[in-house]
Amino acid sequence: MARKGKITVVGAGFYGSTTAQRLAEYDVFETVVLTDIIEGKPEGLALDLNQSRPIEGFETRLVGATTGIDGSGYEPTADSDIVVITAGLPRKPGMSRMDLIETNAKIVRGVAENVAKFSPDAVVIVVSNPLDEMTALAAAATGFDKKKVIGQAGMLDTARFTNFVAETVGVPVASVKTLTLGSHGDTMVPVPSACTVDGKPLSDVLDQAKIDELVDRTRNGGAEVVALLKTGSAYYAPSAAAARMARAVAADSGDVMPVCTWVDGEYGISGVYLGVEAELGAGGIRKVVERDLTESELASLREAAEAVRSKQADVANL
Ligand code: 2OP
Repeated sequence: MARKGKITVVGAGFYGSTTAQRLAEYDVFETVVLTDIIEGKPEGLALDLNQSRPIEGFETRLVGATTGIDGSGYEPTADSDIVVITAGLPRKPGMSRMDLIETNAKIVRGVAENVAKFSPDAVVIVVSNPLDEMTALAAAATGFDKKKVIGQAGMLDTARFTNFVAETVGVPVASVKTLTLGSHGDTMVPVPSACTVDGKPLSDVLDQAKIDELVDRTRNGGAEVVALLKTGSAYYAPSAAAARMARAVAADSGDVMPVCTWVDGEYGISGVYLGVEAELGAGGIRKVVERDLTESELASLREAAEAVRSKQADVANL
């Protein structure tokens, strides 16, 4: 099999390291680079992951690199085709994603500037929280075309919603299709009109009160995991989501996924990074895909856009 390309994962916490693992195990990349500011951690994880290759049967090589805030140590990431930014602090129990904004803005800005310097042609996938704001910040700090800077949230929120519906109805997850749009936060917009179980509308299978309960649980899906873990936030489902997006970009697949992207007129919304469906390809976003929404879903999406718009304006100064 022809493996090609270099992908860098910035941040070797649980989110970053599981993303690197998933990417390596796809066995489609030549190299996966994992970086962190904690000396030795990315090198140690890369060594460990490389030693798993004979057992798991993949040839992609992992490279670990300790980096400095001043941009030192970034050389092994040079000319990456894709960079996944996981850097930043996770939530603690009781915190909202927005509570991380000041700290993570500084971290993400520094990382994004170094990414732009070392990998000027990369597609950037941001997962740091608060997601919509950090994606907007990374786009500004890299100066990249907005189509090349994408945030991961909708894939994760949709997966959570799908899992909850499948468990409630008692069917395989593969029988369920769900969708969430909007922000990766309080103004997340689960879209019941786009949800089906074995092709039947969700409203034929569950009553409205149950759907509302699952929508609510989806909106709080990250906080539920944080409260249970007590230290750190979710990483298995988040890394699966980020890795799938990266794989779609690497394969120039044209897959349509819910992602955080620049919206420019779609749904009557402009000039903001927001969770919508989009076609992913080698250049990042090929196009935003609009679908029919109910009046209330559309109103919620527009409300989400205004909520994140004001926060995205704030991060410009952080
Ligand atoms: C979550 O929702 C990490 O934001 C991520 O779990």
